[in-house]
Amino acid sequence: MDLKSQKVKLNDGHFIPVLGFGTYAPEEVPKSEALEATKFAIEVGFRHIDCARVYQNEQQVGQAIQSKIADGTVKREEIFYTSKLWCTFLQPDLVRPALEKSLKDLQLDYVDLYLIHFPVAMKPGEELLPKDENGKMILDSVDLCRTWEALEKCKDAGLTKSIGVSNFNHKQLEKILNKQGLKYKPVCNQVECHPYLNQNKLLDFCKSHDIVLVAYSALGSQRVKGWINQNHPVLLEDPVLCAIAKKNKQTPALVALRYQIQRGVVTLIKSFNKKRIKENIQVFDFELSPEDMKAIDGINRNIRYNEILFGVDHPGYPYSEEY
Ligand SMILES: NC(=O)c1ccc[n+]([C@@H]2O[C@H](COP(=O)([O-])OP(=O)(O)OC[C@H]3O[C@@H](n4cnc5c(N)ncnc54)[C@H](OP(=O)(O)O)[C@@H]3O)[C@@H](O)[C@H]2O)c1
Repeated sequence: MDLKSQKVKLNDGHFIPVLGFGTYAPEEVPKSEALEATKFAIEVGFRHIDCARVYQNEQQVGQAIQSKIADGTVKREEIFYTSKLWCTFLQPDLVRPALEKSLKDLQLDYVDLYLIHFPVAMKPGEELLPKDENGKMILDSVDLCRTWEALEKCKDAGLTKSIGVSNFNHKQLEKILNKQGLKYKPVCNQVECHPYLNQNKLLDFCKSHDIVLVAYSALGSQRVKGWINQNHPVLLEDPVLCAIAKKNKQTPALVALRYQIQRGVVTLIKSFNKKRIKENIQVFDFELSPEDMKAIDGINRNIRYNEILFGVDHPGYPYSEEY
């Protein structure tokens, strides 16, 4: 079996590759890097690409996909592309136009997966991060069940193959699952997940509802200043992780990725560095023992790198719940 094409079946019958290429980079990174890195990722075997409107690089990522289709490396149907509906577009009538804008930037007819990016609505409009005169984010309110219905319509219209959510806690997921007249369940919940925040309870909840948990910041995030608390310890320097890496003759990064895949989590990994992009696909070339898996479970300490504090007072802020 070609491990690189390992896929998991979603609850709507489509398949998602277990390893995905992350494309977010802070704004000071030139957008051309996303183009080059995504092309290279496809060349070395990544088939799942994770992006979003708010990353403001869908044009470049789309261009990378187009160029790898044009040169015969892949066919469109071999690529699994995820986009996300940003917080300023959660009002139901804005959902389809937002997805259509992403498709236009990407030069694609459909995406494979469209997610509600974060369950906190922001003031609708052109500004992706609308702030008041004091620099405070301007939030809004929305019934996420109505937003979900608009996503269901996008799926029916063929603009996306699958629909899901991101950064939802289990109560927010339950609200969608229990919605009157639900047509499609979310196929996944994409959340921060790594050995310091292993999300065991949310993972069990998702598995019990046939919802795939997709891990982001699987290496402990990019530690972007202004977004991530710099006092948090660096995941890849964890002594247990480093010892397990040494024992298995692997890097701590590969151990952190392999840990997720072995526990049934679809895993995203961002790198814009050719050496590390190539390294990361080697996650399929080794296995962790049950003892190693248990030891990694033991270093969980509920450290959330992406706290998204601007939403903390909003009723939709997801991280006030335990899971
Ligand atoms: N849904 C959401 O709200 C949400 C939030 C955050 C992220 N995401 C998605 O998830 C993706 C991944 O998460 P993330 O961007 O936070 O970062 P991540 O995957 O945890 O990666 C963090 C850093 O690790 C470095 N790295 C990659 N491979 C490595 C290796 N083999 N050894 C050592 N270092 C390595 C990368 O730097 P180099 O580039 O220098 O290699 C990268 O900056 C994002 O790009 C995005 O697509 C989604």
